Amino acid sequence: MKAKNCLIFGGSGQIGRHLIRKLTKNNIRVTVVTRNIHQKSYIIKTQANAGYIDIVEANIYDEVKIRELLSNADTCINLIGILYEKGGSTFKNIHVVFPSLLAKLSKEYDLKNFIHVSALGINEAKDSDYAKSKLEGEKSILINFPMATILRPSVVYSVDDNFTTNLMTLLNRLPAFPIYYNGKTKFTPIHCSDLTDIIYHVISNDINSKILECVGPEEITFKEILQKLLKSINKKRLLLPFPIFLANLSAKIFQLMPKPLLTEDQLRLLKYDNIISGKYKTNSEIGVPSKFYFEKEIEKYSFMWREGGQFSTGKYIKKDD
Ligand SMILES: NC(=O)c1ccc[n+]([C@@H]2O[C@H](COP(=O)([O-])OP(=O)(O)OC[C@H]3O[C@@H](n4cnc5c(N)ncnc54)[C@H](OP(=O)(O)O)[C@@H]3O)[C@@H](O)[C@H]2O)c1
Repeated sequence: MKAKNCLIFGGSGQIGRHLIRKLTKNNIRVTVVTRNIHQKSYIIKTQANAGYIDIVEANIYDEVKIRELLSNADTCINLIGILYEKGGSTFKNIHVVFPSLLAKLSKEYDLKNFIHVSALGINEAKDSDYAKSKLEGEKSILINFPMATILRPSVVYSVDDNFTTNLMTLLNRLPAFPIYYNGKTKFTPIHCSDLTDIIYHVISNDINSKILECVGPEEITFKEILQKLLKSINKKRLLLPFPIFLANLSAKIFQLMPKPLLTEDQLRLLKYDNIISGKYKTNSEIGVPSKFYFEKEIEKYSFMWREGGQFSTGKYIKKDD
């Protein structure tokens, strides 16, 4: 049976926007919670037809408000996550305290599903504060809502991501690009649409899989990702292996910025392969294998980073020219 109303936290983000489209197109109503309705509502409301979406501004620690929202929901999805700490937005608060409270209240309100998006490779990355907090969050969610489904995606890409688009901008501007750990770290990039298909499948089939690793159809090293992006934007750049002490030094400087390009913790995380562990079920095993291949998908938008943009493609050549 399909959920009537899905309560989504973090719906204005990359995965959230795609998910709102996927769910509402399939007749699931969504209520999306944001910290700032003035800033985020215009991004959120355009993802669904009127009548399928409500947008609510709330402080994520306002228990009274969360209770009110949960009392009208069948399913709760938590997509809130951070890559670096700033002020009160600590890994502990965002990845442990908040999801743990949400899971506890979702249980109290007898919701059918609680779905939480965590991250792949967090068991292995023992020296990363990000990974440790994601892991601790998962544990407390499963204590508070034992039938929760926790999704662990590898890096998620799409036309509106912060991953391939930022990398292409940097590759365009820099004459040489630093690679850490010789670019050998392996990833299994998953397209955002493949990930939202998995979430939809979990909701519509009432799957309570505990932990599910969500990966794309191929393993690619960081260096190969950069090479594919360079090929796609038609640029040649020097990929420069960076000694780790220099990388640490630059991360120390970067992390002073309001939106750091790289932090010391991310650098530690980059050491570990981001591939299936073999210890948990994967999206393929629940019947939703990923369909999209990295190189083919980035081709669809990377031309905007090429010399000539859309005119580099033949898209605008008239048939009789
Ligand atoms: N994208 C990836 O490659 C990837 C890979 C593995 C795991 N994940 C996980 O998947 C989840 C969703 O990822 P995403 O890329 O869609 O996330 P995102 O775009 O970075 O952020 C999702 C939303 O979280 C809310 N948020 C961020 N910081 C917050 C804070 N300090 N307090 C309260 N709310 C805050 C924001 O919503 P409002 O501003 O509207 O409040 C934001 O739109 C995250 O948990 C992430 O760790 C993502």
